[in-house]
Formats: sequence, structure tokens, C-alpha cells
Amino acid sequence: MLDHSHNRPTLPTEIARRRTFAIISHPDAGKTTLTEKFLLFGGAIQMAGQVRAKGEARRTRSDFMQMEKDRGISVSASAMSFDYGQFRFNLVDTPGHSDFSEDTYRTLTAVDAAIMVIDGAKGVESQTRKLFEVCRLRDLPILTFCNKMDREARDTFEIIDEIQENLAIDVTPASWPIGMGRDFIGCYDILRDRLELMDRADRNRVAESIKIEGLSDPRLAEHVPAGLLEKLREELEMARELLPAFDRQAFLDGTLTPIWFGSAINSFGVKELMDGIGDYGPPPQIQRSESREIAPEEVPVTGFVFKVQANMDPKHRDRVAFVRLASGHFERGMKLLHVRSKKPMAVSNPVLFLAADRELAEEAWAGDIIGIPNHGQLRIGDALTEGEALRFTGIPSFAPELLQNVRAGDPMKAKHLEKALMQFAEEGAAKVFKPVIGSGFIVGVVGALQFEVLASRIELEYGLPVRFESSQFTSARWISGPKLDVEKFVNVNKGHIATDHDGDMVYLTRLQWDIDRVERDHPSLKLTATKEMM
Ligand code: G4P
Repeated sequence: MLDHSHNRPTLPTEIARRRTFAIISHPDAGKTTLTEKFLLFGGAIQMAGQVRAKGEARRTRSDFMQMEKDRGISVSASAMSFDYGQFRFNLVDTPGHSDFSEDTYRTLTAVDAAIMVIDGAKGVESQTRKLFEVCRLRDLPILTFCNKMDREARDTFEIIDEIQENLAIDVTPASWPIGMGRDFIGCYDILRDRLELMDRADRNRVAESIKIEGLSDPRLAEHVPAGLLEKLREELEMARELLPAFDRQAFLDGTLTPIWFGSAINSFGVKELMDGIGDYGPPPQIQRSESREIAPEEVPVTGFVFKVQANMDPKHRDRVAFVRLASGHFERGMKLLHVRSKKPMAVSNPVLFLAADRELAEEAWAGDIIGIPNHGQLRIGDALTEGEALRFTGIPSFAPELLQNVRAGDPMKAKHLEKALMQFAEEGAAKVFKPVIGSGFIVGVVGALQFEVLASRIELEYGLPVRFESSQFTSARWISGPKLDVEKFVNVNKGHIATDHDGDMVYLTRLQWDIDRVERDHPSLKLTATKEMM
């Protein structure tokens, strides 16, 4: 183990100032715009517009494919680090499209909190709900940002009710909007008794902030037209009676979400939200492993891979493994144990992602996300430690919901195809099954669009045109049980058996009835729809 005595005093301080979080939302609610304003106020970009390419590129299916080809843009935004006041924010990007739910799920294992962005006119939408459910599985604390208040929005109570009812979480207003649409002038900051006024003239300017001594303060009348002021007082009175007050513990437990109202495009409400993450948001949390819990303040460095991105630069077949540091103070050049292969790994060129640029990471602390370029050794779920054989838990691999056969346009290129497929499997972009009988591969994905993205990437990155065709199978289940029983079962069911990219046995079928039958006839075997990726 390395000598860490020199950084003991700073470890708790550095960890306490870190906030690692993701933004979840339904497409179009304003995630890209909000991210951009975060980077702007975090000093990571100089002007708005630098990350817009991404939001726009996602608009249509073909543009989305283009974005996939244009890996440079999408990837540098996978994890962004920047300072905000005394805090270090690590914002981890969640893929926007619903077809990428598996990737999103894994991403959410690397964060300590999430910001849920909703459109003030639309409320809770389908994708918001799905992502929220994933956060709930992990009891992640959630901060809510109700965006686009500069447009006609729903009634404030109605929005709050909808969140409470639809998502079964208590909501407490952190701010309260004054006026709506064209009459929207700003918010009353309930947590800090301040009036925040929106500047419509300059979209990148932060709102004027006026300290107020309670609702009877005469200064309110100087800034808020009489009609709106009366409504504000009434609504706040009602809110106080009907809605729970902010309770940090309930927020940290994931049972209460504070809601801010604002307009990302007008930079309004964004700083208050950022202050909220800083002041109340959780610092890096304890991570779980099979043998024990790992506290971030532990001195030895540990971390786990939650995402692998291949071919970031098609000219060099590099891959970057994104590692969430679970504990300790990492320094460039450290030799860490790659637990799965039991081999040491010198981490000499780790990268930190600062907005649109990558930078060498000289050091990083528990809670940070670093990228480690590698040639395929690092896979999702892998642990890196200073010697302990840890196995982190909680990163699942989902059973694909759609299966298709894949063929190379040129049959002579079957080997190339295999290589490409294995790489995507390791990246977690698809499941690849090799049937024990016959040739060819079956690819499994969670959403149909993934087939198109894969075909386009195989062609672009490997120069290999491929065809996806329907498969006779529709379901895949991992087989586990006593070794002999598994072997026996595999031998008599060869037509239904394939191996995944780790060599694990999978049972393929098109009937739930088959799965039930196997479970009934072979009580020692287990067929599972997910397998932990470790
Ligand atoms: P997403 O990443 O969640 O998909 O959303 P994105 O930020 O790309 O925003 C979606 C649309 O909503 C964009 O408009 C964006 O400008 C707009 N928007 C974001 N925040 C606000 C806001 O506070 N108020 C209003 N009125 N609109 C907002 P677009 O027309 O699709 O793109 P653009 O032409 O404006 O770039």
C-alpha cells in the first residue's frame, strides 16, 4: 500500500465539498440548457451555446445517429467536473433517449443525488417517471427544477400535487413563482427569504436578489405589482399549511424533494438550485461491496467502472472506462489492483472531463469520476483497489427485451464482426450471445433504436456493413446452479443454449411457458433476467 500520511488532513475536507449528481428529465424539458448554465456559472465554459450542439443533435432520429457517430461531442459530456463556490460538482450525463435505459441505470449507480427537471407546462412525463423509479430503487435524494416558467405553465399547486401523486414523494417548495408566462417576474426564495427577479433582457445574467424580512416586508411592494403580491401572499400562506417544510433528513432519505421554479434559458433559478445542491446535497456516500461497506473517507483508493465508452476517437481504438472513486485520494501514476484479473494496473493517464475538454487528472478524490483509457481490460462493474479483493454490488445487467440475428454483409468478415460485437458487449451497449449450435450471433438490446445505432457504429468504426434479422428467440435468461446440473441441462437443450461475452450460459426461448417449465423440472437451476456485472 502507498504511503498516504501526507494527505490525511485534507481527505475529509475534499470529500465533504464534493457533489456528484445526474440530471434526469423527459426529452425537451431543458436538461441541456440547464447543464449549460451549470457549466457557465461553474466557470467551465465562457458563454452559453457551447454544449447546445448536443441537445439539438438529439432532436431527430437521424441527427441522433449523427451524434452517435460524432462521439467526440457526446462523450466529453459523459462526466463534467467544475467548481462552484467552495464545492466541486461532478455532473454525470444520463443518455437522453429512452432506448438507453440500461446505460442510464448504470450511470445512476455512480451518483449520490439527482436533479429532476420538469417542464412547467407539461408536468411529470413518461420518461421522468421511469428515471425517477430508477432513482427511487437506490433511494437517491432528488432536487426538482420546474423549468420554463417564462412560458404559460400550470398552476403551482397543481404541479406540486402531480409530482406528489404520480411519484409518491413529498414535495416542499424551495421557491415560489410570482406570476406566470409573460407576467412571470421571478420567485420568492422560501429557504432564504429573498426575492429573485428575472432579467429578461440578458439571458445569461443572474437575477437580481433582494433580501426580504418576511412576507409583510414593505420592500416586496416596491418590486412586485399589487395583484401579484396579494396572490403570492395567499399562495404562500396556503403552501405553508398544506405542504411539508424542508427537512434535510427526509430529503437525504429520498422521501422529500425540494422544488425550485425557474427558467433555464433565462438563467433564472439556476443559481438557487446550484446553491441547493451545495448546501443540502449529499457528499459522496458509502458504497456497497459483497464483503463490506466502503466509506469515502477510507484512505486506500477504491473505485468501480460504471461505464465504458469505446472508439471515442475512431482513429485510435481507445476505450475509456469511467470510474467512480469510492474512497481515498487518487494520484496519477498510482498502481491499482484490477480485482477481476488480479493484475496490477498503472493508471498513468487518467482523464478528468472539464466541460468540452479532457484533461489529465493529476489527482482525484472519493466521489470524483475519472476516465481511464485502456485496451479493453476494464469492464463495467470492475473494481480497482490498492490490494483488497473488493466486489462492488448493485450494477445489474438487464435481460435484453429484443433479440435479433446479426450477419456481416460480407461473410468473409465474420471474425471482424465478432470483434466488433464483443467490444459493444463489453461496453454494455448490447448483449451478444453465441449459440452453441450453428454459427452467427444473436444480439440483444433493451430498445429497438439500439439496433440501428449498433449497425451504424459497426459500419463507421469497423467499416463493416451488417444486417439485423429477426431471431427465432425472444427471451434470454442466465442459467445458474450447481455446475453438474447446469452441464447436464445444457447438454440436452443445446438448441436453446448460447454463451454471453463472459462465457456465461444463457437459455434462449420464445415462450415464457418454457422458462416456467425449466424452473419446475429443474429445481436446482435458476433462470434469471439480470446478472450482476461483477
Ligand atoms: P433537453 O436537453 O431536456 O432535451 O432540452 P433542451 O435543453 O434542449 O431544451 C429544449 C427546448 O426548450 C429548447 O428549445 C430550449 O431552448 C427550450 N428551453 C429550455 N429552457 C427553457 C426555458 O426556461 N424557457 C423556455 N421558454 N424555453 C426553454 P428549442 O426550440 O428546441 O431549441 P432552441 O432553438 O431554443 O435552441
